[in-house]
Amino acid sequence: MLDPVRWIDDDGRVYDKFEDCDDIFSGKLRLIDQTLLPVELKYLQTDKPEEIFDFIKRLVVRGAPAIGCAAALGLAASSKHFDSADRASFLRDLEKISSFLASSRPTAVNLFWALNRCADACRKSELSSPASLRKLLLKEALSILEEDIDMCRAIGNYGSALLENDFGVLTHCNAGALATGDYGTALSPVYVAHEKGIKLRVYSDETRPLLQGSRLTAWELDRAGVDVTTICDNMAAQLMKEGKVNIVIVGADRVAANGDAANKIGTYGVAILAKYHKIPFYVAIPYSTVDSSLKDGSLIPIEQRHRDEVARGFGKVTAPDTVKIYNPAFDVTPNELITGFITERGIIEAPFLGKL
Ligand code: MRU
Repeated sequence: MLDPVRWIDDDGRVYDKFEDCDDIFSGKLRLIDQTLLPVELKYLQTDKPEEIFDFIKRLVVRGAPAIGCAAALGLAASSKHFDSADRASFLRDLEKISSFLASSRPTAVNLFWALNRCADACRKSELSSPASLRKLLLKEALSILEEDIDMCRAIGNYGSALLENDFGVLTHCNAGALATGDYGTALSPVYVAHEKGIKLRVYSDETRPLLQGSRLTAWELDRAGVDVTTICDNMAAQLMKEGKVNIVIVGADRVAANGDAANKIGTYGVAILAKYHKIPFYVAIPYSTVDSSLKDGSLIPIEQRHRDEVARGFGKVTAPDTVKIYNPAFDVTPNELITGFITERGIIEAPFLGKL
């Protein structure tokens, strides 16, 4: 696959899990620069918190699970620069950098989940030297990545059972390999079905304004040899009316306890269209995307992004400077529009309360 989020040491060796060797500690976070796709496939490396923050904010790395893995590995890489003489100062530095990285984007809960998990592992340990705490931090961050890779495969195995030969699958945004450590969430069932020889037609919504569907989803599926057609967001209703869509599968950035699911802006509209056309609508997520502290989706913080993403679409003037622009990055699909959740532990059907 693409290895979108990994750890890389000074000798250029790439890791997707922890290994107890000296070289690993010289490592950095390695990412694909997703802003350059589909034109250029370029990998970046960093161990600087300001750069990691900027990469998340600018969507160099994006997609909820990938953001979580990048933040965890980024925190571990940054810890190399901590000027900590003892446990207390290491934990203080860790807290500071972790809060800084957590302020990069507000909606994907995987970001906070992964950073908390890393900080918690250090806080709960009884280790006293900064070197041993740093080792533990890297171990935890790489466990998050390793589990993410397993999670993708499990979602793919469960979700592929929903797919039949000649099915049309509609997806929105990018919840594929680029958005996770491996096969993706929404696209993992597609990849697994493809490996089994099941013939699918995938439709990728272009996904205005940043075009994750046409730039990323179409690119990675095409590269993997999957039949993919990109449509503009406003074409989904027509496609459904023509009977070309058998199932919708999307990812999510945060799911509340009752099953309301925040995903890329436009997902809610697709769910309404699917309901009208009696097409099953599935949300593929790892459990790390569930925020059971929120009773419903109205409590999910929705990121508002810069006007230029709409008014200066990829550098072109696409709206007058004098008009106001509304640019929420996500919307919330109410649970009653969701047929089921495809998770790493199996498929969950409605009612969702208590099952997530
Ligand atoms: O703004 P983005 O590109 O980070 O939004 C990503 C999405 O909405 C994805 O569908 C979601 O994170 C699920 S990724 C497996």
